[in-house]
Formats: sequence, C-alpha cells, structure tokens
Amino acid sequence: MKVLKRRFIFLFIVFYMSETLAINIPQIVDVPQCANVPENERLDCYPQTNANQEECEARGCCWIEPNESVKGLPYCFYQPKAESYKFTNVTEIPDGINAFLERSSKSPYPSDVSVIQLIVTYQSDTTLRLKIIDPNRQRFETPFPEVNLPTPKTENPLYKFVLGDDKQGFKIVRRSDNTSVFDVSDLSNFIYSNQFLQITTKLPSSNIYGLGEQRKHLKLSTDWNRITLFNHDTAPQDHVNIYGTHPFYLLVEDTSNANGVFLKNSNGLELILQPSPALTYRAIGGILDFYVFLGPTPSDVLKQYQEVVGKPKMPPFWSLGFHLCRWGINDLETTKKVLQRNLDAGIPVEVQWNDLDYMDKHNDFTINKTAFAGLPEFVQDLHRQGRRYVILIDPGVSGSEELGSYPPYDRGVELDVFVKNTTDQIFIGKVWNLVSTVFPDFTHPNAYTYWKEMLKQFHDVVPFDGAWIDMNEVSNSEFPYGCPDSDLDHPMYQLHTEGGTLQEKTLCMTAKQHLGVHYDVHNLYGISEANITSRALSEILGERSFIISRSTFAGQGRYGGHWGGDVYSTWDELRYSIPHLLDFSLFGVPLMGSDICGFNDNTTEELCNRWMQLGAFYPFSRNHNSEKLRDQDPVAMGEQVVRSSLKALRVRYSLLPYLYTLFWYASQEGTTVARPLVVEFPNDPNTYDIDTTFLWGSALLIAPVLEDNPSSISVYLPKGRWYNFYNRTLLESVGESFNISTDRDTIPLFLRGGLIVPMQSPAATTEEVRKSDIKLLVALDENGKAKGNMYWDDGLSLDVSSDYTLLELNALQNTLELTSLNKGSTGLPKITSVEILGSSNGVNNKSILIDNLSIDSYPAKVTWPMT
Ligand SMILES: *[C@@H]1O[C@H](CO)[C@@H](O)[C@H](O)[C@H]1NC(C)=O
Ligand SMILES: *[C@@H]1O[C@H](CO)[C@@H](O)[C@H](O)[C@H]1NC(C)=O
Ligand SMILES: *[C@@H]1O[C@H](CO)[C@@H](O)[C@H](O)[C@H]1NC(C)=O
Ligand SMILES: *[C@@H]1O[C@H](CO)[C@@H](O)[C@H](O)[C@H]1NC(C)=O
Ligand SMILES: *[C@@H]1O[C@H](CO)[C@@H](O)[C@H](O)[C@H]1NC(C)=O
Ligand SMILES: *[C@@H]1O[C@H](CO)[C@@H](O)[C@H](O)[C@H]1NC(C)=O
Ligand SMILES: *[C@@H]1O[C@H](CO)[C@@H](O)[C@H](O)[C@H]1NC(C)=O
Ligand SMILES: *[C@@H]1O[C@H](CO)[C@@H](O)[C@H](O)[C@H]1NC(C)=O
Ligand SMILES: *[C@@H]1O[C@H](CO)[C@@H](O)[C@H](O)[C@H]1NC(C)=O
Ligand SMILES: *[C@@H]1O[C@H](CO)[C@@H](O)[C@H](O)[C@H]1NC(C)=O
Ligand SMILES: *[C@@H]1O[C@H](CO)[C@@H](O)[C@H](O)[C@H]1NC(C)=O
Repeated sequence: MKVLKRRFIFLFIVFYMSETLAINIPQIVDVPQCANVPENERLDCYPQTNANQEECEARGCCWIEPNESVKGLPYCFYQPKAESYKFTNVTEIPDGINAFLERSSKSPYPSDVSVIQLIVTYQSDTTLRLKIIDPNRQRFETPFPEVNLPTPKTENPLYKFVLGDDKQGFKIVRRSDNTSVFDVSDLSNFIYSNQFLQITTKLPSSNIYGLGEQRKHLKLSTDWNRITLFNHDTAPQDHVNIYGTHPFYLLVEDTSNANGVFLKNSNGLELILQPSPALTYRAIGGILDFYVFLGPTPSDVLKQYQEVVGKPKMPPFWSLGFHLCRWGINDLETTKKVLQRNLDAGIPVEVQWNDLDYMDKHNDFTINKTAFAGLPEFVQDLHRQGRRYVILIDPGVSGSEELGSYPPYDRGVELDVFVKNTTDQIFIGKVWNLVSTVFPDFTHPNAYTYWKEMLKQFHDVVPFDGAWIDMNEVSNSEFPYGCPDSDLDHPMYQLHTEGGTLQEKTLCMTAKQHLGVHYDVHNLYGISEANITSRALSEILGERSFIISRSTFAGQGRYGGHWGGDVYSTWDELRYSIPHLLDFSLFGVPLMGSDICGFNDNTTEELCNRWMQLGAFYPFSRNHNSEKLRDQDPVAMGEQVVRSSLKALRVRYSLLPYLYTLFWYASQEGTTVARPLVVEFPNDPNTYDIDTTFLWGSALLIAPVLEDNPSSISVYLPKGRWYNFYNRTLLESVGESFNISTDRDTIPLFLRGGLIVPMQSPAATTEEVRKSDIKLLVALDENGKAKGNMYWDDGLSLDVSSDYTLLELNALQNTLELTSLNKGSTGLPKITSVEILGSSNGVNNKSILIDNLSIDSYPAKVTWPMT
C-alpha cells in the first residue's frame, strides 16, 4: 500500500516536471555502444535493488548481464556520453569560476533541478572548492564543520581547472604532471534532483584511504565497494553503516604525489568505489560542496583538509594515561574493588569510568542512591590520588518522570530544546530510560544554556573530569507514535543502510530540529552534542575538557575524541582496530582507540594479552567491556596479562612527553599522532597496503603481535636505520621485512634513526610521570644526525598557543644542541640523561648522565666522545 502510494507521487512529479522542462526526449538504447563499455567502467544506472531490463531500458540505459556474476557489477549502466547537464555559460571571476549547467532531459528521480550553478573558488595554491547549488532555491547546507578559511589567495596554484569537450564536464589537473586529480569529464550519470544527487570522479590510482566510518582495511577496496554513511548504532561489521560520517579521502597517485577530496554534505551518503578506478558519490539531499587538496605529500593533504574542517583539540595530559571501565559494574563497591586490585598489581590506572550503571533508572544526571551512594566521595578520593573520573552521558533524557522531579526534562521543556515531531510536539522515543526518552536538539539556540546547566548541576554533586557521550547517532529503539508517511522517511532512492530504512534505530526523518528536519541533520546529532558538551565542560572545569563521542562527523576532532564502539572480542577485531584508529588519524580525530580486549562477548586470556599490548599504543587507551561478561581488567585476566600490561604501559608512560608533543603538533598543524606508514613513506609503495603496523609520529614503529603466540612475526621496515626499542639492536633496512622473534610479554617496537624522543620515568600516575626527570633518546641515522622536539605545558590550561615551552633538539655527530623556541610559565623538568644510539657503527648504546640541565641554561650543548 505504502509503495503504491509513493509511486503515484513520483509519477505525478515526473509528469509535472516534464511540462516545465524544455526538451524531454527519451534516449534510444544503442546496443553496440553498450558492449563497448568495459565492465570496470560501467556507471550504475539502476542502483536500486532488483534492477531489470525493462526498467533499465526505460531509463535509456544499457542492460548487459555478465557471463560470470561479479559482486557489485551493475547490469544496468549508462551509455557513453549519455545526455545530462551541459555548461550553458562559464565566467571567470576573481579567484575562480562561475558557471551554469542545464539538463536537457529528465532523470528518473523526482524533482530534478534543471539549471544548476557551479562555483569554483581557488582558495589557495593547494586547495580549491567546487560548490554546486540550485541558483533558484536555497537547499540545505550543513553548518558543520564550521569552516573559517582566509580570503582566497593564490600565487602559483598546483592545479588548473579544465573544461571538458562539448561543454560536458570538467576536471582539476595537477599542473606539474597533468594528473587528473578530480575528473568529472564524464557527466553521463550526473544527477541533481531534490533527493538524489550523483556524480562520479575517475581516480588517478587505486591507492585510496579514508571514507568512513566503516569496518575495513586502511587501503580501500575498489572492487565495487559500496560504503554507506548514515550514522547508526550497530557493532562494526563489513559493509554496514556505523557510527560516524567522514566523506574525505586521501589518494596516493602513481607518482607518489598525493591528493585528497572532502565532500561537505551531512545527508545520507553512498560512495561506490569501482575498479576502473572511480568513485561515485550519491547524496540524498543537501548540495555538492567539494574541497580538493593537491598535497603534494600525504601529510600536506591531511593538513589542508584540517585547515578546512578544523584541527584537533589538545587533550589534557591526564587523558593520555590508562583508562579502566566496564558496563555491568552494578555498584560502587565493585568499582572500587576492581580498581584497587589493578592498582595493587601496579597497573597505572589513571582514570576510572562508570557506564550507565551509576544512574538512577538509567536517567542522565542522577545517581543510584543505594548502589552508588558514596560516589561523590569516591571521586574526591580519586582526585587526592592524582586520578580522574569519567562518566557516561546519554543524549536522551527521560520523558516520563513525575513533573517537578526531574529537572533535565522540566528545564528542557521550559527552554524548548527537545526535538519535535510533525505536529510540533515533543518527539517521544525510547532508549535506556524505563518508559520513554526525549532528545535534546543540540542545534537549538538554547541547547548550550540547557546542557551546561545540567552538566554543572551534576558536576556540583559528582566532580567528574570528562564526558563519554554515547548513543548519539542518535540511537532510539521505539516509535510509540510511528512515523508519518513521507518522502523523507521513504525517498525514492533507498540508501543501503542496515535495517533497510532511514529511521531504523533512530528518529523519524520528519522530526524537527532547529537547524532543519532530521533527514538533513541526522548525521550532525553527535557533532552538535560534542560541540556543546566540549565547550560547556571547559567552562565548568575552567580547563581543557575531555570527551569521547561515539557518533562523529567531519571536523569532530576539534571537540574531542572517539572510540571504536561495540567491537567483538575476536582476533579479527583486534586487527581491524588498527585501520579504524588510522582512519580517524586521517579524519583529524587523533584521540582514538578501541575497547581493549573487546567489548562484546567474552574475551580470552591470549587475546586480551595481545590487546593490552596493542591498546597501550592507542592514543586513547581504555579497557572496557559489555555487561554480563567475564571481568577483563588486567588482574582478572591473570598473571600473563598483568605482565604484558605492565611492560607495555610502562613504555607508554615513559613516552608520554613524546605522545603529548605529537598531540600538540596535531592541534597546531594538523599532523597525525598514530600515523599510517603510507603517510610517512609515500615514496615507498610497499607501505601502501600496510595496516598491521603503524607509527607514533615519525619516530616509533609499533608492530603488535596479532595472534596468540607465534615464535616470530614479519615486520616491514622502510629504508633506513631502525633500533629495537628494548635491546637497542640496530636493523639496517633497504626497505624489507624482518623476521622478529617474539615472546608472550612483549609488543615489538622500533625507533627510527634520525629522530630524538623525549622520555620520562614511568609511574603510577601521569602526575608523577610529569615530575620525573627527562631523558633524551637520540637515535642517530647513518650520517650521525637526529632531530626532535619537546612540547611542555601545565597539561590542563586552555591556552596552548602562547603559554608553553618548546624545545628544539638537534644532534650532529657527537653533539646535541638544545634550543628553546618558546618558554612558558610551567617549569620544564630537568634533563638529566641522554642516551645515544648508533654513535659508532650504529651498534653501541651510550648513556650520558648530565648535570641537571635546566631550561635556563639553553641554548645548551651536550657532547660525547666519538668511538
Ligand atoms: C560472454 O559471452 C559472450 C557471448 O556468449 C561472448 O561474446 C563474450 O566474449 C563473453 N565475455 C566474456 C568476458 O567472457
Ligand atoms: C548564465 O546562465 C544562467 C542560467 O541559464 C543565467 O541566469 C545567467 O544570466 C547566464 N549568465 C551569463 C553571463 O550569460
Ligand atoms: C557550537 O556551539 C556554540 C555554542 O557553544 C554555538 O555558538 C555554535 O553555533 C555551535 N556551532 C554550530 C555549527 O552549531
Ligand atoms: C600538460 O598538458 C598540456 C596540454 O595538453 C601540455 O601542453 C603540457 O606540456 C603538459 N604538461 C606536462 C608536464 O606534461
Ligand atoms: C540501583 O542499583 C541496584 C544494583 O545494581 C539495582 O538493583 C537497582 O535497580 C538500581 N536502582 C535504580 C533505581 O536504578
Ligand atoms: C507528536 O508527539 C505527541 C507526543 O509528544 C503525540 O501525542 C502526537 O501524536 C505526535 N504526533 C505525530 C504526528 O506523531
Ligand atoms: C561469558 O562468561 C560468563 C562467565 O564468566 C558467562 O556467565 C557468560 O554466559 C559468558 N557469555 C558469553 C556471551 O559467552
Ligand atoms: C644502554 O647502556 C646503558 C649504560 O651504558 C645501560 O644502562 C642500558 O641498560 C643500556 N640499554 C640497553 C637497552 O641495553
Ligand atoms: C623466523 O625465525 C624463526 C626462528 O626465530 C624461524 O622459525 C622462522 O622460520 C623464520 N621465519 C621466516 C619467515 O623466515
Ligand atoms: C634483540 O631483540 C631481538 C628481537 O627480540 C632479537 O632478535 C635480537 O637477537 C636481540 N638482540 C640482542 C643483542 O639481544
Ligand atoms: C640534580 O638535582 C637533584 C634534585 O633535583 C639533586 O638531588 C642532585 O644533587 C642534582 N645533581 C647535580 C649534579 O646537581
């Protein structure tokens, strides 16, 4: 019944449109031409499921069934140069181009925009913007990420804009070698209709990364790979839309130059990578607003991307410590007991967390007064120990408490901040609350006042240090009033989302927010909550806030971090957690890590042993699991896991000054913290596929053991000198794999020659680490050189761009020079030791104790004898 009704509406619109369009000639299917289209280059003309020849040909498209079925290969595809939009006029304007395109025939989708406008802005020598709009009607444009670019300025652009033949299409070409970076010269499948926008770009290579959030390898498959982006509460699985949306890719060309493209659009998206290679974008609303980045290195591309979407926020120092959490710790006594047994074993738990167990009836901003009675005192006690406390906060609040008894609801009504339904009443759903849930609209002008008040009132009772914002896809499981029938919930083109409908596990698409209908702003729920929460918490604490958010959107890094969601406790998920982490590095969200030992299902000793080792090198390092499962804190897992955890976490804690320095550079320059090898070594194609190892910055290569107990693992080391972190053995690589022997207790780590790493002494808390002396680990390259930096501040204050200390470290032959580039108000610990690796034939390890070198003596030199 529903389906028929929709068809009727569609036919009506088509009829209406055909009257308004000048020409409407159905195209003749030219069969010989169809056979000339190589399979890999077919552009899908019938992406709906159940394509058939009749309906395909009615669209003027080719129908060829392949001899052998290939997953994803379209049977129904566009004819070469099929009719679509053509340029009617193209005008050069200051800093760009203004052009109009017009369609002569209609597309199969309702409400084509027949005249569209392309505005090209030459933003800088490396970045340009291509914005395609309806010149006659304002369409939805997402305000996130908040883009704040300088006035366009180009001197020597790396690119040029080239108009296609016959006024069809265009491309962006890299001037230096004519590589087509963004190539839409074939517009045959280009559609710009109200609820279906589609465009394909031919890619200059298949080395493409990013486009998430998805469970996948770091390098994307171009084998008819369909990626659906519509934020959704589900455990990461192959080809399923999960929590976040980041329509950004990094691509390494055959010449090792890199480029990147960001589509700024918050509507539901589908991205198809095909083997030719090419990428098709499908959006079910909004506009097409592309930013193209010319690099030319991968790091340049990532910096250029973050100039647009925003650089990540600097995390507080303490948040780089180890975090302990689980769901199903039903009372404070158990929370205390688990924490204490780990502290007793020497595990440096920095932050204790609680899941929603702490709440009364699962309601935000309440405490279960029996089971968690002493919570405020417990948190104060943690603070006295130099430890921290983080709580889970859900976005939805209870809609069914007695009037006057639950301020989060009453105050929300008063400030009118809840999401509404089509009859302008509060939209009712159900999440964890016992009866019903209502959802704050974080795009509402009063949302900040409301949320800050709620956080502040609760913080006055429980002085928590950070917020874990969960379920903000936004997740919802019940529709007591159903969803009104609408093209928003049932657009003609149905994205391939899990569950098959857009409203699956979320709100009706017709639900109303201040910024627009949920259909347009769905993917922004998490980022709008993070925006408000991050700022409110900073105001309340008077210092840097810490938040992690399950749902994310492009530009999220400026508000906080992310975790890997509901991953299973399996070896596969352990491996996938690396590309997941590295994807978020590409997205400018460096504060990331998956739940150590896995969230869903019972973990095992062997798995947890390896996961604690790898997790010690997630920038955000937290052990967490689901309710009704075995305990998986290190002590509960037994002696082996404790031994591994201690060993790996001691290395992490000794490297905190280095990690913190990497975060500062990320926040200032848009560099990565956890870094894919391809980003650091784009000239080495052997690195393009690697996602089982990764780097911290440029200096440390982390090669986790991803199976139970192999006697050795194979580790690829790019050309150069590397030193085994533990025994300082030198490995001289020509760009080859090494057979590294392993044991159960150890995660293999390698230091790269040419770099200097600042270290401190591991301790029970990060506060104690911060008080310890600094040691500089100097790993010389084959020319006896090395360099590095160290950033330092009080670890908490909001100002990270003026009040800080920055050292520059430079080693040459037998001398290390220390210079301070900036001197802040927080004293830098003394440097009391320098260890030099590779000073003679690259094999010896010299430790030099130095006299309490303090910053007042800079610039300073440390020398050691040559051997
Ligand atoms: C598929 O079959 C047709 C006719 O049977 C043949 O002409 C064509 O070469 C085959 N294509 C491939 C790729 O095998
Ligand atoms: C370009 O085409 C558009 C749409 O057809 C029209 O509104 C505009 O006036 C034209 N501009 C010029 C400079 O011809
Ligand atoms: C982010 O939150 C602030 C309030 O703290 C608000 O002024 C701003 O508009 C928000 N950004 C967006 C894009 O909504
Ligand atoms: C790029 O193409 C243009 C036009 O086809 C040609 O004049 C130029 O020499 C080419 N440049 C390079 C670097 O190949
Ligand atoms: C408080 O916690 C106890 C122990 O988990 C639980 O049995 C009880 O239902 C909780 N009470 C409320 C109101 O949430
Ligand atoms: C809107 O929500 C109210 C409850 O807040 C409900 O009574 C009403 O039926 C809903 N309207 C629609 C169209 O679902
Ligand atoms: C996990 O282990 C616990 C016992 O520690 C058991 O009660 C539970 O059923 C197990 N759950 C699963 C999903 O295997
Ligand atoms: C490096 O040498 C110093 C003394 O020269 C020694 O204390 C230290 O243990 C050595 N480190 C390693 C990893 O061998
Ligand atoms: C790696 O070394 C181990 C011994 O440590 C050996 O058993 C194994 O065969 C080697 N693997 C490879 C691929 O060379
Ligand atoms: C250092 O450790 C590696 C890997 O475990 C091992 O292969 C090598 O023999 C060790 N070197 C020394 C000098 O102990
Ligand atoms: C270095 O400073 C420590 C205290 O910070 C002091 O105990 C030690 O004597 C000093 N060493 C030298 C050589 O000055």
